[in-house]
Amino acid sequence: RAGIITALSSKAVSDSAWLNASADQSGPTIRELIEEHEYECTRTVIVPDNEDRIRDVVKLWCDQNLVDWIITTGGTGFGVRDITPEAISPLLEREASGIVHLLLSASLKHTPLAALSRPVAGTLKSTLIVTLPGSVKAVKENMAALFSNGLVDHAIDL
Ligand code: MTE
Repeated sequence: RAGIITALSSKAVSDSAWLNASADQSGPTIRELIEEHEYECTRTVIVPDNEDRIRDVVKLWCDQNLVDWIITTGGTGFGVRDITPEAISPLLEREASGIVHLLLSASLKHTPLAALSRPVAGTLKSTLIVTLPGSVKAVKENMAALFSNGLVDHAIDL
């Protein structure tokens, strides 16, 4: 069971538009990719780039054991509103620095701009949490890395 959180910038998107699911292309892309790998997407949400809002969703999904894997997209860069890593980091009980290395090294093979992402990964209770950049291109490249060699399947099994 996977849950997808799209952090939409309230700067890039007007204040009301972030509520509009059609503004989000990366969330549906993640959904398609995980469903191809036989994961069930049981939760999706679009949140503004607000630390508390992101944290509230992650805590709820993990505390109530609603999902085994949370994938966030967006808000990992250097913009002042890019706060997804700051929202997630304090919640992680165990950091997965290996997954962070994997995402960055795989992404750097596609573009040096991957260095502008600040991904975090780890576990809270029995849920794996991974933060991806916001673009559809970056999502596809990062998801390919996560699925390579059955990596994420193995992590979730464990
Ligand atoms: N990673 C991959 N694999 N492919 C990409 O095209 N784009 C980068 C980076 N990571 C990119 C990538 C760019 S241009 C930015 S600004 C950062 O992700 C942060 O994106 P975010 O703020 O949408 O999370």
